[in-house]
Amino acid sequence: MDTRFTLNGQLVSTDSDPDTPLLWVIRDDLGKTGTKFGCGAALCGACTVQLEGVAIRSCVTPVSAVAGKRIDTVESLSSDNSHPLQVAWIKHDVPQCGYCQSGQLMSAAALLAKNRNPTDQDIDLAMTGNLCRCGTYNRIRAAIKDAAAQMRQA
Ligand code: FES
Ligand code: FES
Repeated sequence: MDTRFTLNGQLVSTDSDPDTPLLWVIRDDLGKTGTKFGCGAALCGACTVQLEGVAIRSCVTPVSAVAGKRIDTVESLSSDNSHPLQVAWIKHDVPQCGYCQSGQLMSAAALLAKNRNPTDQDIDLAMTGNLCRCGTYNRIRAAIKDAAAQMRQA
């Protein structure tokens, strides 16, 4: 039986095996390739998406677990880089190689959805599972604070 869920605001379905990791359904079946594969073991955060607004690791989430639920990927932020996080990411030149950044953005977006004035500690806690081998952590923190300030003013 097909698995149906909402992806970036649109109802989608897949006939993949229910045990298939959500990551592969998103990328291979549904063509949203912004979400990346890193470790496949919930250790790096490259595959982070949001399930009902909560950051999760799609590499270890069977697609059956999201049936009937809302999934948002990095493509949901905006298509024209107008989301405050995207604006701040560009302003602060956050990415280096870029590979981890879609996961970073989705964890940051989940944080700002519930906390528009995060402290350094809040940010570190929310972002702790998102690794960056290029060491962009300081720029990520600055960009999150910048985006939070923009969102508070909006
Ligand atoms: S690919 Fe999922 S946490 Fe690394
Ligand atoms: S920007 Fe290269 S891994 Fe994060």
